[in-house]
Amino acid sequence: MNKEWLKKAYPEHFTTAPKKVTNLVVEQAEGPYLHTIDGERYLDLVQGIATNALGHCHPALTAAASNQLQKLGHASFNLVSYPSALLLAAELRKHTGGLNKFLFTNTGAEVVEAGIKLARYISGNHSIIAFRGSFHGRTMGATSVTGSNAKFRKHYSPFVPQVYFAPYPYCFRCPFHQRPENCSIDCLKYLLDDFEHIIPPEDVGAVIFEPVMGEGGYVIPPGKYVEALGRVCRENGFLLIFDEVQSGMGRTGRMFAFEHFGIVPDLLLLGKAVGGGYPLSVLAANRDIMDKWPPGSHGSTFGGHPVACAAGLAQLQIIGEPGFMKSVDAKGEWFRNQLIALQRRHPEIGDVRGLGMMNAIELVKPDGEPDTERANSLVAHLFSRRILIYTCGVKGNIIRFMPPLNIEQGILESVVEILDEGFSVSGIEKKEA
Ligand SMILES: Cc1ncc(COP(=O)(O)O)c(C=O)c1O
Repeated sequence: MNKEWLKKAYPEHFTTAPKKVTNLVVEQAEGPYLHTIDGERYLDLVQGIATNALGHCHPALTAAASNQLQKLGHASFNLVSYPSALLLAAELRKHTGGLNKFLFTNTGAEVVEAGIKLARYISGNHSIIAFRGSFHGRTMGATSVTGSNAKFRKHYSPFVPQVYFAPYPYCFRCPFHQRPENCSIDCLKYLLDDFEHIIPPEDVGAVIFEPVMGEGGYVIPPGKYVEALGRVCRENGFLLIFDEVQSGMGRTGRMFAFEHFGIVPDLLLLGKAVGGGYPLSVLAANRDIMDKWPPGSHGSTFGGHPVACAAGLAQLQIIGEPGFMKSVDAKGEWFRNQLIALQRRHPEIGDVRGLGMMNAIELVKPDGEPDTERANSLVAHLFSRRILIYTCGVKGNIIRFMPPLNIEQGILESVVEILDEGFSVSGIEKKEA
């Protein structure tokens, strides 16, 4: 293998459309670490973009996947059933709050498409309410309900029609200038007002909502907002779709983020981590809904691939063990407290937020405006220390942390130290602790 050729091959052979964040060529990984072809080791706090819940090449998942590979690769779940998919469904059902039937697909965007199609199919109503700031994927339907960044939509119109965007309750940058302590959820009132001006509720089939916003900025909505949104859906007969492609599978310290809000959606969308690092996505709904979707109305050649299901099952058996979520919660809280301590020394950190191990810091200028440069300089500093992190938010001024859920606390401790150092490296005076 010619290393120099490998390092130059990407721009020569690939479109630049999916923005490549590093030029690393990686050939091996384990747990929280990636190893490049040059023999360098990087701490990976991105994990395939919040996908490897237990880190790279977890032995139990690798064994389950390779065992499955030797018995049955692809046969198509459209044609036959096989144990790994059936067992994964049965295991998932223990956690989905009563949602007891599933569709298995391949990617996050694909399951968003499926959710929109199912909602339209069974409600007969075409309008969808989505949220400013939310991200749902890159296919046409998913892009149509995505409001996180205009560049994801640029030059792709016309979109799937009848999508309306409501404000997301992004409290740190509340569009209604309220504070969480005295908030009267004006963002929801704005939506209700739209029912009189723009959106006839009789035409609405579904509301698609990220119970914790991912790509748009790792934003946690207030509980009272989510409760009220659920009520609006119930009262108007809208199907409530929770996109938990990023927040699901233990990331927030609960198996699913909906548990934080005490609301089970009508349709639950899972992706990323659900396949234990292999391509799998899942639509969950209850029997009454799913059974209205007749044979042949949807499908996928690869959906529910045996290997992805085997890895997903092995992972679920680990993260579903009693005590596992508690440990995620505790470690996440400890990490957030470290970030809050860092914020006391560095006012450039405008906000620290998160649930479980889905955490972020928002970098701001002295006037509170987003500081993208600062975020980039911290990413560059960490990269120079061989730590990979990722930004999010429309301005790219939010750093999100997506470590494996089972990462050792000591490793996170060193990340905080290096982050701390990153503020002085970029030349800004430190406040006294
Ligand atoms: C909440 C959410 N939904 C959908 C998607 C799309 O998933 P995929 O990239 O697998 O299509 C993502 C990806 O980041 C996501 O975060």
